[in-house]
Amino acid sequence: MKLLVLNGPNLGRLDLRDSAIYGTLNFTELSQLIMECAINHGFEPDIRQSDSESEIIGWLHEAADAKTPVIFNPAAFTHYSHAIGDAAAMLKAPLIEVHLSNPLAREEFRHTSVISPVAAGTIAGFGPASYELAIRAMQGLVGSLGGSTA
Ligand code: DQA
Repeated sequence: MKLLVLNGPNLGRLDLRDSAIYGTLNFTELSQLIMECAINHGFEPDIRQSDSESEIIGWLHEAADAKTPVIFNPAAFTHYSHAIGDAAAMLKAPLIEVHLSNPLAREEFRHTSVISPVAAGTIAGFGPASYELAIRAMQGLVGSLGGSTA
């Protein structure tokens, strides 16, 4: 089964961000880890990153049309992009929201997520392991929905 792993703005420059918050992996290394974990859980991962709201909305439309499950780190768009929230609401397969950091333990503006209301669940605060936990959760979800992960 295909699995779309979407990453929002500034995650492409992960190694240049505050390492106390985001760790030391660069985006290529993070993608490698996600790729291996997803394959080990029987998914065909498609990992993408964009700084553009419009591009991410297009990818969510694509996932809705293809009924593809989505693991999504919307980055700063999490907190204010109702356009992305509306696109996520149209998905047909589950979406799991992930964050490297724990937004609820950070500044006030990060305490709101416009994605959480349409997500099956949110995993935050575990660094790259947030993605691994989300992949594991997704395997359980699509399995329980009768999908195949093979
Ligand atoms: C983030 C948390 C967001 O608040 C922030 O804007 C990001 C990354 C995370 O993965 O911890 O860019 O989504």
